This record gives sequence, structure tokens and C-alpha cells, in this order.
Amino acid sequence: MKPLNLLVIDDDPTIVKFFEKIAQKYGYSFHGATSGIEGMEVLSKRKVDVAVVDLNLPHLTGMQVLQRIKSNNKETEVILITGQATVESAVKALKEGAFDFILKPFVSIDLPIICIQKAMDKINLHQKIRELETRHDFREDYYGIMGRSPAMQEVYKLIDNISNSQSPVLILGESGTGKELVAHAIHQTSPRKTTPFIVINCSALTETLLESELFGHMKGSFTDAISDKKGLFQEADKGTVFLDEIGEISPSVQVKLLRVLQDGDMKPIGANQSIKVDVRVIAATNRDLYMAVKKGVFREDLFYRLNVIGMHLPPLRDRVDDIPLLAYHFMRKFSSRMNKKIEQISVDAMQCLQDYRWMGNVRELENVIERAIVLCPNSIITAKDLPSKILGETFYVTDSMKDHADLSKLTYQEAKEKALQQFNRHYILGLLQQTDGNISLASAKAGMDRSNFKKIIRKCDINIHEFRKY
Ligand SMILES: Nc1ncnc2c1ncn2[C@@H]1O[C@H](COP(=O)(O)OP(=O)(O)OP(=O)(O)O)[C@@H](O)[C@H]1O
Ligand SMILES: [Mg+2]
Repeated sequence: MKPLNLLVIDDDPTIVKFFEKIAQKYGYSFHGATSGIEGMEVLSKRKVDVAVVDLNLPHLTGMQVLQRIKSNNKETEVILITGQATVESAVKALKEGAFDFILKPFVSIDLPIICIQKAMDKINLHQKIRELETRHDFREDYYGIMGRSPAMQEVYKLIDNISNSQSPVLILGESGTGKELVAHAIHQTSPRKTTPFIVINCSALTETLLESELFGHMKGSFTDAISDKKGLFQEADKGTVFLDEIGEISPSVQVKLLRVLQDGDMKPIGANQSIKVDVRVIAATNRDLYMAVKKGVFREDLFYRLNVIGMHLPPLRDRVDDIPLLAYHFMRKFSSRMNKKIEQISVDAMQCLQDYRWMGNVRELENVIERAIVLCPNSIITAKDLPSKILGETFYVTDSMKDHADLSKLTYQEAKEKALQQFNRHYILGLLQQTDGNISLASAKAGMDRSNFKKIIRKCDINIHEFRKY
């Protein structure tokens, strides 16, 4: 941050010197002037944050200097000093916009210091407000992508920056991080936004089917090819093709795709002639494509062709700030879809959502909220509406603390039973969460026999399937 600027105008050089020392001590940059004219010259040349002006100056008076400063730059704060203050002059100065008024001689050396600091604080505050106001690039909903975290702001900025580009984009990120949504946003911000956006999941089709889907085929080129068929690259001409799970494509499809990217042409299966196509390719994968290249299962030349613009979507657990926004977004989406009037998520439920690891990322959160909306009996989602795998430490600690008060109403034996039950549940949930529901591993960690461990799971009414990894 730049140092703040202090200007002192006083015909007494010892006063100017006095303020110069203060400026040095507090790290302000300093300019001194012994007349109003000289002071105005300084003001015309540089930005001044705070001006300390003697009221009784020769030629141009302090009041005139104040008026000129305020008419030129309202943001400069002016502190007036005078030997003979009258109530009228003080009132007039404040009306003209002076920040404060100090009497000479100074009764305490602290007085002018405090006054200057207060004015500097005001300047600082204004600067911060202005910074916030100009940060209008902060977005929470970017073409349907919800996220306020700094990591998502970076994603939005990158999409903005490439909006005029036609280059291929490779989006990497764990499953459920929103790669398809981002691909769609890239298409919507591009000049191709009015043309088709075609999505194909490369892992969902066999090699021949995928090849035929992408590039088309001629009648009779293989057993099921009963007529000519246009490929998606032709259908999407002038538009964008989003190739999801690109890490799964076979070597022969890799070669054909490379040709589309390099030369803008392709040959349908069984055709003699190639066809020119104009498509923008966006590809995505949750696989480690670098590793696939190293292992030789993914062509290096294709990787570089696709990765002209590389993008990485951070996992949800690394952007916990986004969880409340996303949870409320899904709450509104599903409650309106299911015609339910659910308007809030309780504090402890939100705490559990924020503490959970979300290995399935936003998709898993979306599913959890959808389930909660189905189960929720009233207008607030509480921790009880969440699956037990989500209910980490927080819920059970607060829950058992609430119950402790009730324990005293029970006999010792009953209370012990109940407390043990709570402990068991809490302990087992923690282990299952750590091991993704692997009973053998969890029982080994607990130092228990597997069948005894399973008995406790049953007794605690825990649904083991909820711990399955997405
Ligand atoms: N930031 C987000 N804002 C709103 N919804 C989101 C966001 N990220 C993901 N989603 C939702 O989560 C679900 C999964 O998103 P998407 O299909 O884009 O993920 P993906 O990264 O492509 O996953 P996969 O690797 O499994 O294909 C979708 O329903 C999507 O709408
Ligand atoms: Mg996807």
C-alpha cells in the first residue's frame, strides 16, 4: 500500500518542521509550505490525503485554501489550525468541509497527532470501500456456476479471458466438480454461443460406437451400419463439442481426433473422402491425463493439442466457502421442484456440511440436499435430515451434550447404557467415515473382531451403504 500524503501549510517554519517529524514517525509522505500559494502549487502537482492549514496565512487565507482544496478534490481532508479561534470561524470552517480544527499553541503534542491519524483513518476507510465497490468482478453465480470462493473467481476470470478464443480447452478436476457446467459457460461466453453445444460422454460408448457417434459412418461400413449417419462433429459444425471423460478414448479415436484438431477435417467410418468441419473442442477428464501420457496410453501430441487452454477445477473440500451458497442453491432448486416450502438450513446441519470431505464434490452435495428435501418434515433442514455419513463430530457432540442433561433423569444403569450407545455410534461413524465404509479396515483400526464390529453397527442402526465412495 502506498504511504498516505500529508501537506502542512503554515507561515511559521517551526510548525512545518514539527509536522514533518510527525510524518516521519508515522510513515506519511510529507510536503511543507509556508504560504497558501506555495501550498496550492503542491496540491496542483501531487495527490494530498490530509492537509493541515493555518487559518492566518498571508495573501491567500486558510479559509480560502480550504475552499479551493474542497472545490478541486473533495477527498482531501483539511485540518485547520489557528491561534485565535472563534466559534463563528470554527462553524464556518466545518461548513466549508474542514475535517477538524486544532488550537495553537498545542496543549498536548498528542492532539494534532490524534487528529491527523483520525483523518488518515477516514481516508483509508474510503479507499477500502472504493476497492470493494470496484471489485464488481466478484461473482457468485456465473452462468449457473455457483461459487464465491477465490478459486472459483479465478475460474470465472479465466473463462472471461478466453471468451474470444477458438482454441481447445482441457478441463481437469475430480468427478462432480462442475466440469460440464464450466464447458457450457465457455461455450456461452464465446462467439459460438448461438450455435450447437454438443456433449458426448466418451466412456459411455464402445470404441466403434464412439467413433461412429463422433465422425459418422457410411452405410455398410460395419454390421449395424444400415444407413449413412452424420457424426457429431458434422452436426456441431460452427459450434462446440464437449468430450467428457476424454481419458477413456481408444488409440484409433485419438488419431482421428488429433486430425480434427490439427487440420479441421475428418473421415466418417467407411468414407473415402474427408470432410471439413469447424468445431471448437472442449474436453474434460477426472483422470490423471499427465500420467496416462507418461504411461503411453494417451497420445502426447493429442494432449498438447487439447491442452492449449488448461483449466483445473478445485475439489469442493478445498473451497468450503462455497458450501453454504451451493447448499442453499440446491435447497431452493429441489424444494421448488418438489413443491415444498423449505427455506432454511439449520446452523448445526450447515456445520456438518462444511466439515464433511465431499469426495463426490458438488454432485454429492446436490444429492445430499435433494435427499434432505425429500425427508425434511418442516421448513428447516436440520442435521437429522442428513445421511449419517455426513454427521461428523459436531452433531454428535452437541447432540450428546444436550442429552447429558437428560441422562440425570435416568437410573445409573439406563444412563450408562444410553451414553455407551451414543459413544458407540459416534466412534463407529468416525471410523466408517475414515475408511469409506470398509468394515474390515474399520474393525482392524478399532482393534476389534469383524463380526463384533458388525454387531455394533447393527445395534447403532448405521447404514453402511452411505459411506460408499462416490
Ligand atoms: N459450481 C456449481 N454450481 C452449481 N451446480 C454445480 C456446480 N458444480 C457442479 N454442479 C452440479 O453438480 C453436478 C455435477 O456437475 P458436472 O456434471 O458439471 O460435474 P463433472 O465435473 O462434469 O463430473 P464428472 O467428472 O463426474 O463428469 C451437476 O448437476 C451440476 O449442475
Ligand atoms: Mg461430467
